[in-house]
Parts: sequence; structure tokens; C-alpha cells
Amino acid sequence: MPRDTAPNSVLFVCLGNICRSPTAEVVFRKFAKNAGLTLRIDSAGTGAWHQGEPPDPRAQATGERRSYSFAGQTARKIEKLDFGTFDLILAMDSTNLRDLKMSCPQAYRQKLKLFLSYGHADKTAGLTEVPDPYHGELNGFDHALDLLEIASAGLIASLT
Ligand code: 4NP
Repeated sequence: MPRDTAPNSVLFVCLGNICRSPTAEVVFRKFAKNAGLTLRIDSAGTGAWHQGEPPDPRAQATGERRSYSFAGQTARKIEKLDFGTFDLILAMDSTNLRDLKMSCPQAYRQKLKLFLSYGHADKTAGLTEVPDPYHGELNGFDHALDLLEIASAGLIASLT
């Protein structure tokens, strides 16, 4: 598991910014609060199709069943400025990571990682990516949430 020198800000990134990354944002926000960490936490998509929309109702319903709040979240596309602003930029899958690498200035490339690189392989059943639940079954949202909680715990452990 990677160790980091006290980042102050974390940006979670998926494709649409309506399912995985807004969920990662609310999960990690809660984990950070519980750990007493003050961090800037945000999320964005590599695509702009859902810009301005709230998180997918299925993602919200799944998260709310575990007491996460999505209040006030709206989707946005990642911007060039984000690469300089955020200390850690965590992608949900390898396609997101590839797309980020294509638009990220070389000087900031070391900020880009897969979020599940903070998960223990034995807890994630060897998965290194958070599967996209958007086109799949409803239980895909619970599975994504399980993985996001595991990776959040790992990221907190790397920071404390
Ligand atoms: P996300 O899920 O990347 O986890 O927000 C998706 C949301 C929308 C689409 C694909 C994935 N879409 O094709 O519109």
C-alpha cells in the first residue's frame, strides 16, 4: 500500500461523476471526519455528459442506506486547474486513470493513482478497480460501496 506525506486535498475521479466518485467523496469525507482529519475532498468526471446533475438515484439510495449524505452534490468534469490544486487524484478504474494521464501535466502525474491501490487485495477479492455500476444490476452499487469503504479505510491508514 502506498504511503503519502500528508496531502491536504483529495479528488476522486470516475467517468460520469454521478455514481462512483461522488460516492467515494461522501464515504471518504465521513472516514476523514471520524479520523479527525481536515482535508479538502471533491470529485469529478473525465466526461461532461452529466455536468450539473445530482448523483444517480441508485447511488444515493445505496449510500443513504449506510447513512451517507449526498446533499448538494452536482456532477462536474475535471478541469486542468484540478491537477495543480489537488494533492491526490484517485481514479476509480484504469480507463479513468489513462484518460487522466492524457490530460495531466507531466509535473503532476505522480498525484494520479487508482483508488483501490489503497485497498488490501484480500479484502477486495483481488480487484484493483471499482467496476462501473451504471449499466449493471442494482447490487453493483452495493459492491462499489463496499470497495469504496475498503479503499477509504486504507487511505486513512496511510495518512495517520
Ligand atoms: P460513474 O458511472 O462513472 O461511476 O459516474 C457512469 C455514469 C454515467 C455513464 C457511465 C458511467 N454514462 O455512460 O452516462
